[in-house]
Amino acid sequence: MKTDTFFNEVETPAVLLDETRLMGNLRAMQGLADRHGVALRPHAKTHKSLEIGRRQIELGASGITVATVDEALVFLGGGFRSITIARPVVSSSKWDRLLSATKDRSAEVRVVTDSKEGIRVAGERAAAHGLAVGMFLKIDVGLHRCGLLPEDPHIGQLAGMIHDHRDLEFRGILSHAGHVYASKSQLDASGVAESERRTMVAVRDALVADGLPVPEVSVGATPAVLATEGFEGITEIRPGNYVFLDLLPVRVGVAELSDVALSVLATVISKNEGYFVTDAGSKTLTSDTGVHGMTGNQGFGLAYPASGFLDSNREMIVEKVSEEHGMVGRNGFDLSIGSKIRVVPVHSCPVANLARSYVVLTPDGIESWPVDAAGGSR
Ligand SMILES: Cc1ncc(COP(=O)(O)O)c(C=O)c1O
Repeated sequence: MKTDTFFNEVETPAVLLDETRLMGNLRAMQGLADRHGVALRPHAKTHKSLEIGRRQIELGASGITVATVDEALVFLGGGFRSITIARPVVSSSKWDRLLSATKDRSAEVRVVTDSKEGIRVAGERAAAHGLAVGMFLKIDVGLHRCGLLPEDPHIGQLAGMIHDHRDLEFRGILSHAGHVYASKSQLDASGVAESERRTMVAVRDALVADGLPVPEVSVGATPAVLATEGFEGITEIRPGNYVFLDLLPVRVGVAELSDVALSVLATVISKNEGYFVTDAGSKTLTSDTGVHGMTGNQGFGLAYPASGFLDSNREMIVEKVSEEHGMVGRNGFDLSIGSKIRVVPVHSCPVANLARSYVVLTPDGIESWPVDAAGGSR
């Protein structure tokens, strides 16, 4: 493939996907899951792409995870038959949209909850649609976002409510150790993963001792699953970011820059003493500098001349962004107006969400894949 010619001609900003790296990441994660005897149910909020989701299923994924009902509807429409929504759904109208689509397609839907209200609405809508809905109790293993703390005395009661409901099925417990992104090393990250595993196994054991079967114990965050070797007691992993990777898992030390499959191509549209000004600002790169307590010193992304991608001797930093402009620190280099810059973003998931399509670099040429569920945040 003549990428140099292509880079000169393509309109920017463009979100590039290196298919070889993408497939390497998909295969590596499926291999990890197979090796440890756990099901892989990737979180599709990262790619929001039917094409990538289908490749994950072909490689052996048991289904997919999504964050929103909008995303679930796109994947149901694309023929996916088993979907977990890993953010609580508490509004009747969302349940109705979800369950109508699920019933039409004879698919299986599983949703997390952490409250009596959530269980009540789920049960009511499941009964109204005549569908059995799988529910997971969300356990807070340290991120302190959604979920019941492991010592919460209501865990057994809520699990029992789901278990005893005629239209709900208790699938088990689910956690997301997003705080792993604040880890400073692979060792730290493996500590977070092991603490999550022990916590989840203890919650499972307490429920089982109370007479409640717990078929599934689901965990998942890319740096945690990449850092650990301990999966005993875990039945399922739900990493999302691993398909593309970005500067976050690289900072943690669980991935290399050369593993990152997604980058942003931008054009130098102006320059001044301090900066090359490009056409990729926060509406392309987002203004994400880190997640869950992890910020670094790489601004809004690492930038390279397109002809020297990942060459550490030609590295620059996207130091500032406004909506349609990205300011790349010159770092002693000179680039001409009109030349192309390729950026490894800090966080690829929201970058994908803002794009309409991926420009896919395959060994045989260029393809365009839609970001099918872009923007679907409801
Ligand atoms: C509930 C839940 N599960 C799994 C994931 C996947 O995490 P990651 O993208 O770090 O692999 C996320 C990510 O936000 C999440 O919120």
